[in-house]
Amino acid sequence: MQTELSKQLGVEHAVFGFTPFPAVAAAISRAGGFGVLGAVRYTAPDDLARDLDWMQEHVDGRPYGLDVVMPAKKAEAPGNRTLTEADVEAMIPAAHRRFVEDTLTKHGVPSLAEGEASGWRITGWMEQVARGQLDVAFDYPIKLLANALGSPPADVVARAHDKGVLVAALAGSARHARKHADAGIDIVVAQGYEAGGHTGEIASMVLTPEVTDAVAPLPVLAAGGIGSGEQVAAALALGAQGVWLGSVWLTVTEADLHSRALTRKLLAAGSGDTVRSRALTGKPARQLRTEWTDAWDDPQGPGTLPMPLQGLLVAEAVSRIQKYEVEPLLGTPVGQIVGRMNSERSVQGVFDDLTRGFESAVTRLNRIAGRG
Ligand SMILES: Cc1cc2nc3c(=O)[nH]c(=O)nc-3n(C[C@H](O)[C@H](O)[C@H](O)COP(=O)(O)O)c2cc1C
Repeated sequence: MQTELSKQLGVEHAVFGFTPFPAVAAAISRAGGFGVLGAVRYTAPDDLARDLDWMQEHVDGRPYGLDVVMPAKKAEAPGNRTLTEADVEAMIPAAHRRFVEDTLTKHGVPSLAEGEASGWRITGWMEQVARGQLDVAFDYPIKLLANALGSPPADVVARAHDKGVLVAALAGSARHARKHADAGIDIVVAQGYEAGGHTGEIASMVLTPEVTDAVAPLPVLAAGGIGSGEQVAAALALGAQGVWLGSVWLTVTEADLHSRALTRKLLAAGSGDTVRSRALTGKPARQLRTEWTDAWDDPQGPGTLPMPLQGLLVAEAVSRIQKYEVEPLLGTPVGQIVGRMNSERSVQGVFDDLTRGFESAVTRLNRIAGRG
């Protein structure tokens, strides 16, 4: 599964893997793919440095990258000040806080112990936090910097290029992809509606060729709904120079979801068991459908708040749900490919299956084309 882009980056397979877990990212790079560590959960720069140190020791010299979440549209505090976490907390209406508590009480979710910090406190989509992550990351030999919610600011692109780091950005439409090209981005990740996490409304089958045409000759990676080698072959047939997978790594043996109940839920879920909901972050993100997403999507409820308010509003609640494994509410971002994630495999096992499936698709297509 080699393309010009995989050769340029020095990897065996044009398979890019996004994951929040260093052990998974390192295993993806060791297996011949390109591991990309999601940085959004790192609020303390030292924690990111510790995990990048670990990655350095465990990638066997293979290339890897980092993904940050810098929203193109950022919220501003009064007087054009940079928004702090305290500003955001102060903007959350009391009625929304009550709704969170009432929903947790209805499901008997215990409180955290006195002084116990909320583990799920994602503030990495606040620009100053993401910039702190970049200050750390540029001291490591990362080969790729990806951004989730728009083109990164011009100074960040310039800084990456000065260091010889390629810049990728996710796009859910050809219009977004063109904006990335205009901003000097090197690789566009065309992420379809099926994908786990923040997604647009266009399915990968339609989006991949549209984006490929829109930004040619820039390389495009296809993302969303890819979990087998046959799907990799389809994406490459549509013009992509590689694939970008996220969901499939959630149930690998190297992943650390901290919850067997959640792993069991993912393994049992079908492709119709996800929903694109604003419940987690305030922007539409595909995730497991649960009684928690249903409560937020219920027209009788208060509705969600915009990013970054919603993320802070639900942070402690999500930690409580995860800690006490309250199954009806327990969820995670994941895409429709969850329906094919039915057994736990190692990262190497996923790569073995991807290569086998890819070869069988190519053989089949060659036969159909009368070439073998
Ligand atoms: C649990 C999870 C968390 C994600 N978080 C991010 C993120 O922080 N930044 C980002 O660029 N993409 C994120 N994504 C999206 C992935 O980068 C990727 O585009 C997507 O998973 C591809 O579609 P798939 O889920 O069908 O493989 C996340 C996806 C999942 C499943």
